[in-house]
Amino acid sequence: MSQKPKVFISRTIPDEPLARIQAACEVTMWPHEMPPSPDELRAHVTDVDGIVSMLTERIDSDFLAAAPNLKVISNYAVGYDNVDVSAATAKGLPVGNTPGVLTEATADQAFALLLAAARRLVEGVEYIRNDEWQTWYPLQLLGSTVSGATLGIIGLGRIGHAMAQRARGFGMRILYYGGSNQAFADEVGATKVSLETLLQESDFVSLHCPLTPATRHIIDAVALTQMKSSAILVNTARGGVVDSNALLHALQTNQIRYAALDVTDPEPIAADHPLVHLPNCIVVPHLGSATWETRINMGLLAAENLLAGLRGEPLPNCVNPEVYG
Ligand code: DGY
Repeated sequence: MSQKPKVFISRTIPDEPLARIQAACEVTMWPHEMPPSPDELRAHVTDVDGIVSMLTERIDSDFLAAAPNLKVISNYAVGYDNVDVSAATAKGLPVGNTPGVLTEATADQAFALLLAAARRLVEGVEYIRNDEWQTWYPLQLLGSTVSGATLGIIGLGRIGHAMAQRARGFGMRILYYGGSNQAFADEVGATKVSLETLLQESDFVSLHCPLTPATRHIIDAVALTQMKSSAILVNTARGGVVDSNALLHALQTNQIRYAALDVTDPEPIAADHPLVHLPNCIVVPHLGSATWETRINMGLLAAENLLAGLRGEPLPNCVNPEVYG
Protein backbone atom coordinates (compact mmCIF):
# COMPACT_ATOMS: atom_id res chain seq x y z
CA MET A 1 0.00 0.00 0.00
CA SER A 2 1.48 3.36 -0.99
CA GLN A 3 1.93 5.89 1.80
CA LYS A 4 -0.21 8.99 1.93
CA PRO A 5 1.64 12.25 1.22
CA LYS A 6 2.53 14.30 4.30
CA VAL A 7 1.07 17.76 4.59
CA PHE A 8 1.51 20.61 7.06
CA ILE A 9 -1.31 23.15 7.48
CA SER A 10 -0.04 26.19 9.32
CA ARG A 11 -3.29 27.07 11.15
CA THR A 12 -6.68 25.53 11.89
CA ILE A 13 -8.85 25.69 8.77
CA PRO A 14 -12.60 24.99 8.46
CA ASP A 15 -13.76 21.35 8.67
CA GLU A 16 -14.84 20.87 5.04
CA PRO A 17 -11.51 21.60 3.38
CA LEU A 18 -9.66 19.86 6.19
CA ALA A 19 -11.69 16.68 5.64
CA ARG A 20 -10.92 16.80 1.93
CA ILE A 21 -7.20 17.03 2.61
CA GLN A 22 -7.27 14.41 5.36
CA ALA A 23 -8.96 11.93 3.01
CA ALA A 24 -5.87 11.93 0.83
CA CYS A 25 -3.01 12.98 3.09
CA GLU A 26 -1.37 12.50 6.45
CA VAL A 27 -2.00 15.92 7.98
CA THR A 28 -0.33 17.87 10.75
CA MET A 29 -2.21 21.08 11.51
CA TRP A 30 -0.77 23.88 13.67
CA PRO A 31 -3.43 24.20 16.39
CA HIS A 32 -2.67 27.64 17.82
CA GLU A 33 -4.14 31.04 17.01
CA MET A 34 -0.63 32.51 16.83
CA PRO A 35 1.41 31.41 13.81
CA PRO A 36 4.41 29.10 14.10
CA SER A 37 7.67 31.00 14.43
CA PRO A 38 10.04 30.61 11.46
CA ASP A 39 11.99 27.98 13.47
CA GLU A 40 8.81 26.09 14.37
CA LEU A 41 7.64 26.26 10.78
CA ARG A 42 10.90 24.86 9.46
CA ALA A 43 10.85 22.10 12.08
CA HIS A 44 7.41 21.01 10.86
CA VAL A 45 8.23 20.75 7.17
CA THR A 46 11.40 18.66 7.12
CA ASP A 47 9.57 15.65 5.66
CA VAL A 48 6.37 17.13 4.17
CA ASP A 49 5.26 16.87 0.55
CA GLY A 50 2.94 19.84 0.71
CA ILE A 51 2.05 22.88 2.79
CA VAL A 52 -1.07 24.96 3.19
CA SER A 53 0.38 28.29 4.34
CA MET A 54 -1.25 31.45 5.65
CA LEU A 55 -0.36 35.04 4.79
CA THR A 56 1.37 35.25 8.19
CA GLU A 57 4.06 32.75 7.20
CA ARG A 58 7.16 33.77 5.28
CA ILE A 59 7.77 31.17 2.64
CA ASP A 60 11.32 32.11 1.67
CA SER A 61 14.52 30.37 0.69
CA ASP A 62 15.31 29.40 4.30
CA PHE A 63 11.93 27.73 4.52
CA LEU A 64 12.43 25.99 1.18
CA ALA A 65 15.85 24.72 2.24
CA ALA A 66 14.21 23.11 5.29
CA ALA A 67 11.60 21.27 3.19
CA PRO A 68 13.53 19.12 0.69
CA ASN A 69 10.54 16.88 -0.19
CA LEU A 70 8.13 19.74 -0.87
CA LYS A 71 6.11 19.44 -4.09
CA VAL A 72 3.57 22.22 -3.69
CA ILE A 73 2.90 25.43 -1.73
CA SER A 74 -0.79 26.18 -1.37
CA ASN A 75 -1.31 29.66 0.07
CA TYR A 76 -4.65 30.14 1.84
CA ALA A 77 -5.12 33.66 0.42
CA VAL A 78 -5.42 35.42 -2.89
CA GLY A 79 -2.44 37.65 -1.98
CA TYR A 80 0.92 35.91 -1.98
CA ASP A 81 3.40 38.61 -1.02
CA ASN A 82 4.39 36.34 1.90
CA VAL A 83 5.83 33.85 -0.60
CA ASP A 84 9.15 34.31 -2.36
CA VAL A 85 7.71 33.12 -5.66
CA SER A 86 11.03 33.40 -7.53
CA ALA A 87 12.71 31.14 -4.98
CA ALA A 88 9.86 28.61 -5.30
CA THR A 89 9.99 28.78 -9.09
CA ALA A 90 13.76 28.24 -9.04
CA LYS A 91 13.07 24.98 -7.22
CA GLY A 92 10.30 24.03 -9.66
CA LEU A 93 7.65 24.37 -6.96
CA PRO A 94 4.16 25.50 -7.95
CA VAL A 95 2.53 28.10 -5.70
CA GLY A 96 -1.26 28.18 -5.45
CA ASN A 97 -3.55 30.97 -4.27
CA THR A 98 -7.31 31.41 -3.82
CA PRO A 99 -8.65 34.06 -6.21
CA GLY A 100 -12.32 34.65 -6.94
CA VAL A 101 -13.92 33.10 -3.88
CA LEU A 102 -13.18 36.10 -1.65
CA THR A 103 -13.94 38.84 -4.15
CA GLU A 104 -17.44 39.69 -2.95
CA ALA A 105 -16.66 39.40 0.77
CA THR A 106 -13.65 41.70 0.44
CA ALA A 107 -15.57 44.24 -1.61
CA ASP A 108 -18.35 44.13 1.01
CA GLN A 109 -15.78 44.90 3.68
CA ALA A 110 -14.27 47.74 1.65
CA PHE A 111 -17.67 49.30 1.07
CA ALA A 112 -18.65 48.81 4.71
CA LEU A 113 -15.49 50.66 5.73
CA LEU A 114 -16.18 53.39 3.20
CA LEU A 115 -19.66 53.93 4.63
CA ALA A 116 -18.49 53.65 8.24
CA ALA A 117 -15.84 56.31 7.67
CA ALA A 118 -18.12 58.56 5.60
CA ARG A 119 -20.87 58.52 8.22
CA ARG A 120 -18.55 58.37 11.27
CA LEU A 121 -20.25 55.26 12.60
CA VAL A 122 -17.51 54.28 15.05
CA GLU A 123 -17.41 57.81 16.46
CA GLY A 124 -21.18 57.67 16.86
CA VAL A 125 -20.97 54.45 18.87
CA GLU A 126 -18.20 55.90 21.04
CA TYR A 127 -20.20 59.10 21.55
CA ILE A 128 -23.00 57.19 23.22
CA ARG A 129 -20.67 54.88 25.13
CA ASN A 130 -18.93 57.97 26.52
CA ASP A 131 -22.28 59.42 27.56
CA GLU A 132 -21.85 62.45 25.30
CA TRP A 133 -25.33 62.23 23.68
CA GLN A 134 -27.32 65.03 25.27
CA THR A 135 -29.49 66.20 22.38
CA TRP A 136 -29.90 66.44 18.58
CA TYR A 137 -28.32 69.44 16.85
CA PRO A 138 -27.67 70.39 13.23
CA LEU A 139 -23.87 70.20 13.34
CA GLN A 140 -23.61 66.96 15.28
CA LEU A 141 -21.07 64.41 13.92
CA LEU A 142 -21.45 65.50 10.32
CA GLY A 143 -19.91 63.20 7.77
CA SER A 144 -19.40 62.91 4.02
CA THR A 145 -22.01 62.27 1.34
CA VAL A 146 -21.48 59.01 -0.50
CA SER A 147 -24.19 59.15 -3.17
CA GLY A 148 -22.93 60.81 -6.31
CA ALA A 149 -19.39 61.24 -4.95
CA THR A 150 -16.29 60.22 -6.89
CA LEU A 151 -14.62 56.93 -6.01
CA GLY A 152 -11.03 56.36 -7.12
CA ILE A 153 -10.07 52.71 -7.31
CA ILE A 154 -6.39 51.83 -7.31
CA GLY A 155 -6.24 48.36 -8.85
CA LEU A 156 -9.30 47.52 -10.93
CA GLY A 157 -8.91 43.76 -10.67
CA ARG A 158 -11.57 41.37 -9.44
CA ILE A 159 -12.02 43.02 -6.03
CA GLY A 160 -11.70 46.57 -7.36
CA HIS A 161 -14.36 45.74 -9.94
CA ALA A 162 -16.68 44.32 -7.26
CA MET A 163 -16.12 47.50 -5.24
CA ALA A 164 -17.05 49.56 -8.31
CA GLN A 165 -20.25 47.52 -8.75
CA ARG A 166 -21.26 48.43 -5.21
CA ALA A 167 -20.36 52.09 -5.83
CA ARG A 168 -22.57 52.18 -8.90
CA GLY A 169 -25.52 51.32 -6.70
CA PHE A 170 -24.76 54.56 -4.87
CA GLY A 171 -24.59 56.57 -8.08
CA MET A 172 -20.88 57.20 -7.68
CA ARG A 173 -18.56 58.36 -10.45
CA ILE A 174 -15.74 55.87 -10.76
CA LEU A 175 -12.13 56.56 -11.68
CA TYR A 176 -9.43 53.94 -11.69
CA TYR A 177 -5.69 53.58 -11.92
CA GLY A 178 -4.00 50.22 -12.43
CA GLY A 179 -5.67 47.15 -13.84
CA SER A 180 -5.98 46.36 -17.51
CA ASN A 181 -9.29 44.50 -17.81
CA GLN A 182 -11.27 46.72 -20.19
CA ALA A 183 -14.41 44.60 -19.72
CA PHE A 184 -14.34 45.36 -15.96
CA ALA A 185 -14.00 49.09 -16.66
CA ASP A 186 -16.74 49.11 -19.29
CA GLU A 187 -19.17 47.15 -17.15
CA VAL A 188 -19.00 49.65 -14.27
CA GLY A 189 -18.43 52.74 -16.43
CA ALA A 190 -15.05 53.42 -14.83
CA THR A 191 -12.69 55.96 -16.37
CA LYS A 192 -8.96 55.25 -16.49
CA VAL A 193 -6.88 58.18 -15.25
CA SER A 194 -3.37 58.89 -14.02
CA LEU A 195 -2.65 58.30 -10.34
CA GLU A 196 -2.33 62.03 -9.83
CA THR A 197 -5.74 62.76 -11.39
CA LEU A 198 -7.34 59.99 -9.37
CA LEU A 199 -5.92 61.40 -6.14
CA GLN A 200 -6.87 64.97 -7.00
CA GLU A 201 -10.45 64.23 -8.07
CA SER A 202 -11.60 61.43 -5.77
CA ASP A 203 -13.73 61.90 -2.67
CA PHE A 204 -12.96 58.30 -1.72
CA VAL A 205 -9.81 56.39 -2.66
CA SER A 206 -9.99 52.62 -2.26
CA LEU A 207 -6.94 50.39 -2.59
CA HIS A 208 -7.27 47.03 -4.33
CA CYS A 209 -3.82 46.40 -5.78
CA PRO A 210 -1.49 43.57 -4.76
CA LEU A 211 1.58 44.48 -2.70
CA THR A 212 4.58 44.44 -5.05
CA PRO A 213 7.77 46.53 -5.20
CA ALA A 214 5.86 48.85 -7.58
CA THR A 215 2.88 49.37 -5.27
CA ARG A 216 4.71 49.53 -1.91
CA HIS A 217 3.88 52.97 -0.45
CA ILE A 218 1.89 53.96 -3.53
CA ILE A 219 0.11 56.13 -0.97
CA ASP A 220 3.02 58.09 0.46
CA ALA A 221 3.45 61.64 1.74
CA VAL A 222 3.34 63.07 -1.79
CA ALA A 223 0.22 61.12 -2.76
CA LEU A 224 -1.51 62.24 0.42
CA THR A 225 -0.83 65.90 -0.36
CA GLN A 226 -2.42 65.40 -3.78
CA MET A 227 -5.68 64.16 -2.23
CA LYS A 228 -8.60 66.42 -1.36
CA SER A 229 -8.67 67.63 2.24
CA SER A 230 -12.15 66.05 2.40
CA ALA A 231 -10.94 62.71 1.01
CA ILE A 232 -11.39 59.34 2.69
CA LEU A 233 -8.88 56.54 2.17
CA VAL A 234 -9.96 52.89 2.37
CA ASN A 235 -7.41 50.06 2.43
CA THR A 236 -8.44 46.42 2.18
CA ALA A 237 -5.40 45.43 0.07
CA ARG A 238 -2.16 45.17 2.04
CA GLY A 239 -0.81 47.46 4.75
CA GLY A 240 2.43 48.04 2.84
CA VAL A 241 0.74 49.91 -0.01
CA VAL A 242 0.34 52.85 2.41
CA ASP A 243 3.16 54.64 4.20
CA SER A 244 1.74 54.47 7.74
CA ASN A 245 3.81 57.37 9.08
CA ALA A 246 2.76 59.62 6.23
CA LEU A 247 -0.87 58.60 6.73
CA LEU A 248 -0.67 59.32 10.44
CA HIS A 249 0.68 62.79 9.73
CA ALA A 250 -1.97 63.43 7.05
CA LEU A 251 -4.79 62.44 9.41
CA GLN A 252 -3.37 64.38 12.36
CA THR A 253 -3.03 67.55 10.29
CA ASN A 254 -6.35 67.11 8.45
CA GLN A 255 -4.56 66.86 5.11
CA ILE A 256 -7.20 64.20 4.39
CA ARG A 257 -10.42 63.70 6.33
CA TYR A 258 -10.50 60.02 7.26
CA ALA A 259 -9.01 56.59 6.74
CA ALA A 260 -10.54 53.16 7.16
CA LEU A 261 -8.00 50.35 7.28
CA ASP A 262 -8.63 46.62 7.15
CA VAL A 263 -4.90 46.05 6.73
CA THR A 264 -1.99 47.83 8.35
CA ASP A 265 1.77 48.12 8.32
CA PRO A 266 2.91 46.73 10.68
CA GLU A 267 0.40 43.93 10.95
CA PRO A 268 -0.86 43.24 13.50
CA ILE A 269 -0.86 46.85 14.60
CA ALA A 270 -0.28 47.40 18.34
CA ALA A 271 -3.12 48.73 20.47
CA ASP A 272 -0.98 51.74 21.41
CA HIS A 273 -0.17 52.67 17.80
CA PRO A 274 -1.29 56.30 17.27
CA LEU A 275 -3.35 55.39 14.16
CA VAL A 276 -5.58 53.22 16.35
CA HIS A 277 -6.48 56.17 18.56
CA LEU A 278 -7.16 58.87 16.00
CA PRO A 279 -10.83 59.88 15.92
CA ASN A 280 -10.66 60.03 12.11
CA CYS A 281 -9.27 56.55 11.56
CA ILE A 282 -11.02 53.19 11.72
CA VAL A 283 -8.78 50.15 12.02
CA VAL A 284 -10.02 46.55 11.90
CA PRO A 285 -7.89 43.37 11.96
CA HIS A 286 -7.60 42.15 8.34
CA LEU A 287 -11.14 40.79 8.07
CA GLY A 288 -11.76 41.31 4.34
CA SER A 289 -12.47 37.66 3.61
CA ALA A 290 -13.76 36.80 7.08
CA THR A 291 -17.14 35.20 6.43
CA TRP A 292 -17.81 31.52 7.07
CA GLU A 293 -18.68 30.75 3.45
CA THR A 294 -15.66 32.59 2.10
CA ARG A 295 -13.16 31.01 4.46
CA ILE A 296 -14.60 27.55 3.64
CA ASN A 297 -14.39 28.24 -0.08
CA MET A 298 -10.84 29.55 0.26
CA GLY A 299 -10.00 26.31 2.06
CA LEU A 300 -11.60 24.19 -0.66
CA LEU A 301 -9.63 26.02 -3.33
CA ALA A 302 -6.43 25.71 -1.29
CA ALA A 303 -7.19 21.97 -0.92
CA GLU A 304 -7.67 21.60 -4.69
CA ASN A 305 -4.36 23.35 -5.34
CA LEU A 306 -2.60 21.23 -2.75
CA LEU A 307 -3.99 17.90 -3.96
CA ALA A 308 -3.32 18.70 -7.62
CA GLY A 309 0.27 19.60 -6.76
CA LEU A 310 0.73 16.38 -4.81
CA ARG A 311 -0.56 14.38 -7.79
CA GLY A 312 1.91 16.19 -10.03
CA GLU A 313 -0.91 17.92 -11.91
CA PRO A 314 -1.12 21.65 -12.72
CA LEU A 315 -2.71 23.64 -9.89
CA PRO A 316 -6.17 25.05 -10.70
CA ASN A 317 -4.86 28.43 -9.48
CA CYS A 318 -1.14 28.73 -9.91
CA VAL A 319 0.72 32.04 -9.51
CA ASN A 320 3.89 30.75 -11.20
CA PRO A 321 2.70 28.65 -14.17
CA GLU A 322 6.21 28.99 -15.61
CA VAL A 323 7.15 26.01 -13.41
CA TYR A 324 5.31 23.89 -15.98
CA GLY A 325 7.68 25.04 -18.71
C1 DGY B 1 -6.08 37.46 0.91
O1 DGY B 1 -6.63 36.41 0.59
O2 DGY B 1 -5.08 37.87 0.33
C2 DGY B 1 -6.68 38.25 2.02
O3 DGY B 1 -5.92 39.31 2.40
C3 DGY B 1 -7.01 37.37 3.20
O4 DGY B 1 -8.12 36.68 2.86
